[in-house]
Amino acid sequence: MKELTLTNTTQTAKDKETQLLLKENGEIPEHIAIIMDGNGRWAKSKGSIRLHGHKVGVDSVRDITEACAQLGVQYLTLYAFSTENWGRPSAEVRGLMRLLVSSLRKEADNLHENNIQLATIGQMDRFPQDCQQQLQEAIELTKDNTRLQLCLALSYSGRWDITQAVKKIANHVKEGRLDPELINDQMISDHLSTANIPDPDLIIRTSGEYRISNFLLWQLAYSELYITQQYWPDFRRNELYEAITSYQKRDRRFGKIELKKDEKGDSSRLLKK
Ligand code: IPE
Ligand code: IPE
Ligand code: MG
Repeated sequence: MKELTLTNTTQTAKDKETQLLLKENGEIPEHIAIIMDGNGRWAKSKGSIRLHGHKVGVDSVRDITEACAQLGVQYLTLYAFSTENWGRPSAEVRGLMRLLVSSLRKEADNLHENNIQLATIGQMDRFPQDCQQQLQEAIELTKDNTRLQLCLALSYSGRWDITQAVKKIANHVKEGRLDPELINDQMISDHLSTANIPDPDLIIRTSGEYRISNFLLWQLAYSELYITQQYWPDFRRNELYEAITSYQKRDRRFGKIELKKDEKGDSSRLLKK
């Protein structure tokens, strides 16, 4: 398989070994979703302006994307700009849009060369024209890539997503094409912006906040949560490996009874009685 060169640095032997161990130790999540929080506080702690935090945050995006592709993660969804973030001072919003355009310009070819598909979820029509165009070009360029899907949640919120799904389903009913009795979980999932991708296995939030902030509300029903104190610009591949190691120790029961492997001795015999 072709080596990744997103950062234009060679992967160290130690990193290769760490990734190999992670793969041997357990399951690599198929879909990781990240609430990339703490750019502003990171910048403040360095005596710098918030936009500097956002810029260094792009370096984290690059490193995490590369590590996920190398590990065999299939879907990486990044919460980059929420519906509520439109309420920030206009200078910060404009700065974020400019950063998005310049990062896409720089990275689109790299993504393509590394067989990574770019996608977005959210209200793209609220974005300035140049942003929309840059995104469309990168999405078009990478549309047939298969190694990893990198999905940016832009002007996204979980409530917006559920609302737009409800509107579509209500229209099917209105047009007489759907009996409301047939509406079920699967149909709702199929009308969300994430229709074609599996629910996240692991949700990571940086900066130590214990909240979801209107991210994938429907989709995270059974996701494992991992919250770290690190601010996003400090969250790099070694921090990702810690999150995956924590995930690999979880016992995902989905409401059923599934004992951990090392607890299965006597008690599993008891269950059979
Ligand atoms: C996350 O960092 C990036 C966006 C929400 C766009 P913040 O900008 O929220 O940084 P803090 O939380 O204020 O430190
Ligand atoms: C969540 O971070 C949104 C993104 C990371 C894009 P916020 O900084 O907007 O969330 P709150 O305000 O702390 O809940
Ligand atoms: Mg924040």
